[in-house]
Amino acid sequence: MTDLNTLKTDLIAQVEAAPDAAALEAIRIAALGKSGQISELLKSLGKMSPEERREQGPLINGLRDAVASRLAERKAQMEAAELDRRLAAEGVDLSLPAPPRRRGSVHPTMQVMDEMVSIFAEMGFSVAEGPDIETDFSNFTALNFPPKHPAREMHDTFFMAAEEAGERKVLRTHTSPVQVRVMRQINEKVPAWVATGQEPPIRVVVPGRTYRCDSDATHTPMFHQMEGLVIDKAVHMGHLKWTLETFISRFFETEGVVSRFRPHHFPFTEPSAEMDVQCDRSGGDIKIGQGTDWLEVVGCGMVHPNVLRNCGLDPEIWQGFAFGFGVDRLGMLKYGMPDLRDMFAGDARWLGHYGFSPFATPNPATGLS
Ligand code: DAH
Repeated sequence: MTDLNTLKTDLIAQVEAAPDAAALEAIRIAALGKSGQISELLKSLGKMSPEERREQGPLINGLRDAVASRLAERKAQMEAAELDRRLAAEGVDLSLPAPPRRRGSVHPTMQVMDEMVSIFAEMGFSVAEGPDIETDFSNFTALNFPPKHPAREMHDTFFMAAEEAGERKVLRTHTSPVQVRVMRQINEKVPAWVATGQEPPIRVVVPGRTYRCDSDATHTPMFHQMEGLVIDKAVHMGHLKWTLETFISRFFETEGVVSRFRPHHFPFTEPSAEMDVQCDRSGGDIKIGQGTDWLEVVGCGMVHPNVLRNCGLDPEIWQGFAFGFGVDRLGMLKYGMPDLRDMFAGDARWLGHYGFSPFATPNPATGLS
């Protein structure tokens, strides 16, 4: 018969001496595991006479409880000690200066687009979009560019490879094809967010990327435009002029910007005009709203009857105006950026300087920029 007291003293001594959690676990298995010493003793109870069992039962169970609880205590002690060690070793030194955190910023072009949309939204315009890869029909034909018109070349178009049916898609050279998409009830299996037709009255602006094969300080192969289109029954140039003048003075945040309309030619408008704003170039950079110089800011005009017809609208009933802004160009003017190419160079230092906080959401009521 094992001397229970000796066994208890021995096991407790082992538990006290265990150097780490693994040693503790080995002791537990040797004593309380399936065929551990104490487990075997517990099994032997079954073979004893009732008298013997009545005597030994409490002793063996007591031994098991004593060893198990000492094991648990030691384990808890060890875990606490380990935690203390880690807390001491991995402590955070709150006096250290925080490492600089690189923060992203909103690209000026996107900020300017948001500013423009917020101004036009307040005037009752909604936003329409269209695909960057456009049909020749929407980009040119429906907009009243004759088949061999030099304007197709003038636009320095990027053509896609011809499709099986012979159709050659283009990277849209302007946002004007979205006028066509908004007016026509068409669905060319484009994504749901693309405008696919709207009944007049129409009041939309169309921000988007545009492409032309061109590159110098004021031209990049990809740039941004914002188109505007208003179609209703009694729209005239006066509405166009008010809309653009109101926009310009809100955008540049100066009252009473003097503007002038200069006759121009676009195939899709008749009459067509370019709007210039008064500016001062004498100091090296351009100041809007003062001086004696003029700066062209937007092409515009009354929508050509052929365009209305091409889009299924009767020009005897419907008429309207359209305009097309160069977004990047407006941003350069407003925020004094000298070279258009920098806007697409992806230089983080430039963005850090000219970028906007994502929290500076433009709003005509609380401030645009
Ligand atoms: N699509 C023209 C361009 O890219 C800009 C333009 C001019 C748009 C007159 C218009 C407009 O809607 O009426 O140069």
